[in-house]
Amino acid sequence: TTDITELLLSRIRDVADYPEPGVMFKDITPLLADPTAFAALTGALAEIAGRTGATKVVGLEARGFILGAPVALRAGLGFIPVRKVGKLPGATLSQAYDLEYGSAEIEVHAEDLSAGDRVLVVDDVLATGGTAEASLELIRRAGAEVAGLAVLMELGFLGGRARLEPALAGAPLKALLTV
Ligand code: PRP
Ligand code: MG
Repeated sequence: TTDITELLLSRIRDVADYPEPGVMFKDITPLLADPTAFAALTGALAEIAGRTGATKVVGLEARGFILGAPVALRAGLGFIPVRKVGKLPGATLSQAYDLEYGSAEIEVHAEDLSAGDRVLVVDDVLATGGTAEASLELIRRAGAEVAGLAVLMELGFLGGRARLEPALAGAPLKALLTV
């Protein structure tokens, strides 16, 4: 384990039985509150943006905004918000996806992504992969290319990586931590 791995791990709090019994919630607020850890995290993700040749950074509402915006700034790239449905005022593309109970829908402004863009998606956690998968669909439907998906943390036991293989189509999935 490298120093950054230790630093990031030490700033993530495990909260048992949240938001429901049996779930171990990964609380990143201690990491965000520590400027050294937050800088290390956004620096590592910005480096991935550079290596993948991304031209834009997409952040997934809400926790993906907290990480994606500083990553975009550090990488010198534009930031594009993918929002939960009904929050964007302009013409949008939207994508529904299944949750454990029920379904959800996310949207992006259609004019924000187009052919020629290479997009890195940034989020905090990869769990089942449903949210990330829907975002990759949106990027492709907008005519843009997927540069990759970068997350702070992958919950390996939920199988999100395997689920995302078709949608990634060879683009890299980078997780700074796997738990
Ligand atoms: C959480 C997390 C990821 C997503 C991962 O977001 O921030 O975006 O779930 O789950 P999945 O891989 O199974 O799709 P959530 O929508 O719960 O809340 P947020 O608005 O706080 O980001
Ligand atoms: Mg989220």
